[in-house]
Amino acid sequence: MDVKSLAVVGAGQMGAGIAQVAAQSGVQVFLIDLDAALVQKALQGISAQLQKAASKGKLTAENLEAAMARLHGTGSFADAAQADFAVEAVTENEGVKKKVFADLAKALRPDAILATNTSSIPITRIAASVSNPERVIGMHFMNPVPVMQLVEIIRGAQTSDETYATTRALAEKMGKTTVVSKDMPGFIVNRILIPMINEACFALQEGLGTAEDIDTAMKLGTNVPMGPLTLADFIGLDTCLSIAEVLHKGLGEDKYRPAPLLRQYVDAGWLGRKSKRGFHKY
Ligand code: CAA
Repeated sequence: MDVKSLAVVGAGQMGAGIAQVAAQSGVQVFLIDLDAALVQKALQGISAQLQKAASKGKLTAENLEAAMARLHGTGSFADAAQADFAVEAVTENEGVKKKVFADLAKALRPDAILATNTSSIPITRIAASVSNPERVIGMHFMNPVPVMQLVEIIRGAQTSDETYATTRALAEKMGKTTVVSKDMPGFIVNRILIPMINEACFALQEGLGTAEDIDTAMKLGTNVPMGPLTLADFIGLDTCLSIAEVLHKGLGEDKYRPAPLLRQYVDAGWLGRKSKRGFHKY
């Protein structure tokens, strides 16, 4: 199926990024969130991003206008009935995701595809909340979506070949490169990234170096754009902890146990950039 219209559920940072890139690639987008203020904020943010790109000469005024015209903010799941494909991008909580999936499945056409942007929860388990699990798939975008090249595609135990082919074609239409991961906790990116961030937390906890030294060492020593603690602040320490817990519980090995310091920062409400304090201050 050539996806011409997309429902994105959840107007947070990830949902807004997915909506922006889809609209820029010629797809009609329904950005759905029960919080009307969040939908407005997302649309304003996208408009600002596109205007910035236009002012740098990376986007014509015509393309900017066309992309904005393809974006429809809404508070109603009923609008998903018009979509060929839906991506759920709500909070990383299994109960919330299953509820959204059940509501979406009722609103969507029977042949529409249901994708989840989960960063760690097994697709097979989320698919169990709907009657047609062959149409369910993992489509994991990276943050910030407009900048990051990768989409990880995760096939659940029952995902059909057609669902996979349509998902891959949509990601490519959005200009992304895809990889396929088995449906195991954390998939590929977070299976490797989160233990590295967690190890940086242990290193800080043990006094191996200051937060600045750990980040500088990894940034300049391994040529990554952000050191691991800065990246953790960027992702959100609560999200890092919840993925670490999924890895620890799902894979059952002690090596995945979350660093106590990470847990303590989350308890303190130091969640990273979004709360203006994490391993660094903002
Ligand atoms: N949305 C859109 N564009 C953005 C952006 C955003 N939120 N943030 C930055 N950009 C754009 C800027 O406009 C700029 O574009 P131009 O080159 O056209 O001017 C470009 O990105 C570079 O931005 P900056 O110059 O402001 O800053 P920078 O060079 O420090 O880059 C960064 C910022 C792109 C975030 C970079 O630091 C980076 O790549 N960091 C690592 C990000 C990363 O690893 N993400 C994956 C996290 S893991 C994940 O997402 C999976 C999960 O489940 C946890």
